[in-house]
Amino acid sequence: MKAIVQDRYGPADVLELRDIDPPAVGDDDVLVRVRAAGVDAGVVHLVTGLPYLLRLGFGLRAPRSRVRGMDVAGLVEAVGRNVTRFRPGDEVFGTCEGAFAEYARARQDRLAPKPAALTFEQAAAVPVSAQTALQGLRDAGAVQPGQKVLITGAGGGVGTFAVQLAKAFGAEVTGVCGPDKADLVRSIGADHVVDYTREDFTDRPHRYDLILDIAGNRRLSRLRRVLTPRGTLVIMGGEEGGRWFGGNDRQLRATLLSPFVRHRLRMLMSMQRERDLRTVAELIEAGQVTPVVGRTYPLDQAPDAVRHVGEGHARGKVVITV
Ligand SMILES: NC(=O)c1ccc[n+]([C@@H]2O[C@H](COP(=O)([O-])OP(=O)(O)OC[C@H]3O[C@@H](n4cnc5c(N)ncnc54)[C@H](OP(=O)(O)O)[C@@H]3O)[C@@H](O)[C@H]2O)c1
Repeated sequence: MKAIVQDRYGPADVLELRDIDPPAVGDDDVLVRVRAAGVDAGVVHLVTGLPYLLRLGFGLRAPRSRVRGMDVAGLVEAVGRNVTRFRPGDEVFGTCEGAFAEYARARQDRLAPKPAALTFEQAAAVPVSAQTALQGLRDAGAVQPGQKVLITGAGGGVGTFAVQLAKAFGAEVTGVCGPDKADLVRSIGADHVVDYTREDFTDRPHRYDLILDIAGNRRLSRLRRVLTPRGTLVIMGGEEGGRWFGGNDRQLRATLLSPFVRHRLRMLMSMQRERDLRTVAELIEAGQVTPVVGRTYPLDQAPDAVRHVGEGHARGKVVITV
């Protein structure tokens, strides 16, 4: 099968289109004929091997798994003998190992039926980013109806889901994004938009019950300045930290500081969970959430897709079609 293979860490050019064997399918696995695969900031980290901290989990000198891509949408090609929920031919979406390929292996508890209203491209935009947004708002953020919620990176992969989910939870939403995404962020439901190139929201008099900090690398003290007295800050991402820790040092500092201040300061390490994938699918079926697909690229242009996301200004989610 054709796959995008990576033998070493580096810029997007380390990704090469090659012919390799399809993955072996274990008893609990599903072999998916990939139709579309999502590209997010996490993929870029695995390609570059930065920050270095992540290599502890994924391989010190080179990535242990050679095919990139987690988000997948496609058709079930074959199932292991313990798989009861899916049959060949089913349309599925979820997370897997190595989605930038014609076939990918997924655990059955990482997949769900593809919402019928979505194309494969739209479905591939969902799994990692939407679950991250859901867990940030609901679990770490404990969002409540009527709360004022501010979301940075509102026009990107995670942010476009976070805005829509926060509205679905009944919040009043302020999205922070660059100038070319203001219309998009408003169109997906944000009540207010702040263009970070014109105005620093941490200088404004407005206060928020919950801040999801998805992009940028603003200091904790600046973010806390615009929280209500018992507000919650969830540090979810940010690409401007150093090569060793990336934005993770802010996450750690927030967690250590939280017991000593009135604000709730949280970090998020998102998890792939079948029930969260199904929750998101239900919200999509109900018309409350619609994936925003920005650019799409064919499989052989996967390096360009990764390069584009790595530039840090993606619009919605970038998707590779197979
Ligand atoms: N904690 C977790 O478990 C978890 C899971 C998934 C992702 N993440 C992290 O979350 C972050 C976002 O991921 P993603 O996939 O959504 O990335 P993405 O698709 O690249 O989106 C990032 C967005 O942020 C905007 N942005 C850049 N600088 C900004 C700033 N200073 N203020 C406000 N917006 C800014 C970008 O466009 P404009 O500048 O044009 O607005 C872009 O739309 C990454 O750091 C990623 O590593 C964390």
